[in-house]
Amino acid sequence: MAFPNRLLEDIRARTGLADVVSKRVRLTRKGREHTGLCPFHNEKSPSFTVNEEKGFYHCFGCGAHGDVISFVMNTSGLSFPEAVEQLANDAGLDIPVETPEAREQAQRQAGLHEVMEAACAWYEAQLRTPAGRAALDYLRGRGLRDETIRRFRLGFAPDGGGGLQAALTAAGASAVSMLEAGLLRRPDDGRAPYPFFRDRVMFPITDRQGRVIAFGGRMMGDAKAAKYINSPDTALFDKGRTLYNYANARKASFESGQIVVTEGYMDVIALSQAGIESAVAPLGTALTEDQIRALWQLAPEPVLCFDGDTAGQRAAGRGAERALQLLQPGKSLRFAMLPAGDDPDSLVARQGVGAMRQVLEAARPLSDIVWDIEAGAVAPDTPERRADLQARLMKRAYTITDATVQEYYRAMFRERLWTTFRSKRGGQGRAAAPNRGSGNSLRRNLGGMNRRAQQAVLAAMINHPALRDEFAEALGALTFDPDLDKVLQRLQNLFAERIDLDLAAIKAHFSQGGDERLLDGVLERQVYVLAPFAAPDATVEGAREGLGHLIGRRVQERLKNEVAALGRTAAESASVEDEARVFAARRDAIESDRLLADIDE
Ligand code: UTP
Ligand code: MN
Repeated sequence: MAFPNRLLEDIRARTGLADVVSKRVRLTRKGREHTGLCPFHNEKSPSFTVNEEKGFYHCFGCGAHGDVISFVMNTSGLSFPEAVEQLANDAGLDIPVETPEAREQAQRQAGLHEVMEAACAWYEAQLRTPAGRAALDYLRGRGLRDETIRRFRLGFAPDGGGGLQAALTAAGASAVSMLEAGLLRRPDDGRAPYPFFRDRVMFPITDRQGRVIAFGGRMMGDAKAAKYINSPDTALFDKGRTLYNYANARKASFESGQIVVTEGYMDVIALSQAGIESAVAPLGTALTEDQIRALWQLAPEPVLCFDGDTAGQRAAGRGAERALQLLQPGKSLRFAMLPAGDDPDSLVARQGVGAMRQVLEAARPLSDIVWDIEAGAVAPDTPERRADLQARLMKRAYTITDATVQEYYRAMFRERLWTTFRSKRGGQGRAAAPNRGSGNSLRRNLGGMNRRAQQAVLAAMINHPALRDEFAEALGALTFDPDLDKVLQRLQNLFAERIDLDLAAIKAHFSQGGDERLLDGVLERQVYVLAPFAAPDATVEGAREGLGHLIGRRVQERLKNEVAALGRTAAESASVEDEARVFAARRDAIESDRLLADIDE
């Protein structure tokens, strides 16, 4: 019986591979991996590894390799359906009932797989006929070795003739299945179906298990229009979920720990031939969410290759923007910029694989790319422009859904804004020495709140969660005592997860985690006596004002220190990052002094 892919994916996602393996093998944890003695061959020292994140085991001794399903099959002697059934039961997953429709669809898919496989073999064979001679010469002319051509199963689709249809018919395929597989096309005028790919070099596209599900066809020569055409989406092929060469790259990435994303088929093949086998490519579109997630199953920081010209830079920027919201702790992307006008294929051809490896090693983190998009080549030189830059960077950071990652992005941007503007001033010949590491001094000065003030800030946020967005950034700049910091982290996670928060919900959350006492450490009566704006019965406006004063005052103090350290007047400090806030803080200073005199000393 055929199982839907979804079920197999769910099994892999829900079953801890290390748990299953450890029933048979004594595993020792080593960083991200577990190692042990290989159950598939006799050995004295462990060469068997389990990578939980990737869901694969691999033996460096005998080459045994597979996922949780194949592990159960191979160690329990179960058939595929039996292993799936057992694992699904263990994971509490329902095996879909085999309806007649489901059976029919499964059969149709199996049929399409056969048709695609037969077509692939036929295209391959055509490359070795006189008609395919030019195509073979074309591929060789592009530097491909015969071994590479075979490994990637490249082929040739002749111009016209009924060869493909005849061959597939002889292999038992129906014309309907050839149409459904996207190999034939039916003209509108009712005439006989004709081959979709004509006079093209053929690149078979496989699914994650290495089965052919589609083709890309390249015109020989350098036509501008439709240089490549791809199979239409079919029951087997979903362009946005497929990556070229994923099945091979998966194995290679297991050993290299790396995955490289290029733009084209030829790039993947050229890299592989040059020894970089963990390369994949989307199919002529920008990377989709699905594809990014698939990449993360192979490596924590896939490297995306872009042409160094402006179009390439723009494409990198778009990729960075899309990736932000998907970021998870430990999961990101890196960006490799090639020399202008080069793609990996041409770079390897011109300068060898060493140059390509250098480019990959110099790949820059996503956060750098986002900074570059907003900051541009020249750092802004007026307070207004700097404030604008800060706002734009923070806006980007807010698109990150994961609360922890978002926090670190904001902290990094803030620190970088600070050091950038600081060093710019230094560069203009003014002494910046007393303030080296001003990112730290910022934090120190901002953070110097006494415990009561820290409690007041947190209490105000807890009692008035509506203010969370307004003060999110300011909160990130403050330093709290360790126990209060824990409360802040919890709060921020909660803020990120839930919109409908009130005091009761927050309390429930903390007591669920057994951490009421953390919360009690914040909500002390004495806090409300000294900072009434933080109390539950204060108005939101009152809380906003109180927080503004309390936090604004920090900014003011920090600036005073900075200015004093530089030995300059306050008026000259116009180029520090948050000038606008200084003025606001100054305006409010008198009132704030009055309001907070009691608690802030
Ligand atoms: P490129 O135009 O960058 O070409 O397309 P390339 O990969 O360097 O190809 P060669 O070196 O000239 O052979 C990148 C990818 O975009 C898709 C293909 O998937 C290609 O690999 N593409 C490109 C299309 O789908 N259609 C096109 O007309 C062009
Ligand atoms: Mn190319």
